[in-house]
Amino acid sequence: MKIFIDTANLKDIQEAENLGILDGVTTNPSLMAKEGVTDVNTHYQAICNICKGKPVSAEVFSTQWEEMVEEGKALYALNPDQIVVKIPITEEGLKALVKLNELNIPTNCTLVFSVGQALLAAKAGAKFVSPFVGRLDDISQHGMELIHDIKQVFANYGFQTEILAASIRHTNHLLSCAQAGSDVVTAPLKSIKGLLNHPLTDIGLEKFIADSKKIG
Ligand code: G3P
Repeated sequence: MKIFIDTANLKDIQEAENLGILDGVTTNPSLMAKEGVTDVNTHYQAICNICKGKPVSAEVFSTQWEEMVEEGKALYALNPDQIVVKIPITEEGLKALVKLNELNIPTNCTLVFSVGQALLAAKAGAKFVSPFVGRLDDISQHGMELIHDIKQVFANYGFQTEILAASIRHTNHLLSCAQAGSDVVTAPLKSIKGLLNHPLTDIGLEKFIADSKKIG
């Protein structure tokens, strides 16, 4: 399973990159606003420089398909080796996905909350489809079931579109996505680093260090 970091915070991206297991980055307009970004293009270039060669999702702000395509082309041109254009799954977004696919520009279809939306995104040739797990849980639906259901439908027809589980709120979400066979999970740094933690590791290491001092 690939692990992406879901943030626009350069320090967190650098820290995740330093761990050596990072496979990519996703951002969205809310994450950019949270960091006080004023020049998105410069910020995307900074992100690409931190994790060279890895996919970086950059979301369009437009809502009409022709404008989404133009914006997507401009974002992609920032770094064709890394930028993946993020498009919301609306009727206009679907048309933009088809057009960008014809132009061989990779896309990440976002704001996916149903299997039907994921199916259309796959048919449109999206490279990634992003189901939002946490936001479904927020409204008392089962976010993780969506990952299982999309996985089954994509397997039925051999779609190449990768499932990129998003809106991950905690480490257990990340683990459940791995169990469901999600191709990618994008998560905040804290949820990724949470995979490392176990109290028995801490206790065991403390004893090994204490005992190592008794040797020799
Ligand atoms: O990648 C989408 C994700 O950032 C949304 O997360 O926590 O705002 O639902 P959240």
